[in-house]
Amino acid sequence: MLWQLDGKPVGFSSCDKIVFGNRANMHLHVTEPELRQQGIGAECVRRSVDIYFRTFELKQLFCEPNAFNVGPNRTLQKAGFRYLKTYKTVPGYLNYHQAVTRWVIER
Ligand SMILES: CC(C)(COP(=O)(O)OP(=O)(O)OC[C@H]1O[C@@H](n2cnc3c(N)ncnc32)[C@H](O)[C@@H]1OP(=O)(O)O)[C@@H](O)C(=O)NCCC(=O)NCCS
Repeated sequence: MLWQLDGKPVGFSSCDKIVFGNRANMHLHVTEPELRQQGIGAECVRRSVDIYFRTFELKQLFCEPNAFNVGPNRTLQKAGFRYLKTYKTVPGYLNYHQAVTRWVIER
């Protein structure tokens, strides 16, 4: 999903580990560093969450940022995600073994 501000792309979200009618994992990025920490991330996450729930008929949506990456952890909390736990894992085939925090929204 492309995030736009005044018609220009400023970030994106993607979704994987999708089990239709049940659960999925989402990702978040504001690609323009100078536009970060101005509220775009939290607002675009809120809107993306609504679209993911509707499109995939979800019951649970997870997000698992690196535990030491303050930006996404603060943003997820602000967008309404609930903290579940912190643990070590390999989040995806592009990632190394790392500590992640697990956040969820349930509907
Ligand atoms: C994570 C990211 C999407 C957040 O987007 P954003 O537009 O900066 O977020 P917002 O401005 O809506 O901020 C939401 C909250 O997080 C806080 N926050 C965001 N980045 C922060 C940072 N680097 N350090 C401390 N707090 C931060 C904001 O202060 C705000 O909290 P507050 O209103 O309680 O003060 C963006 O910073 C980003 O893309 N970062 C680089 C890529 C990345 O780390 N992606 C996540 C991979 S899992």
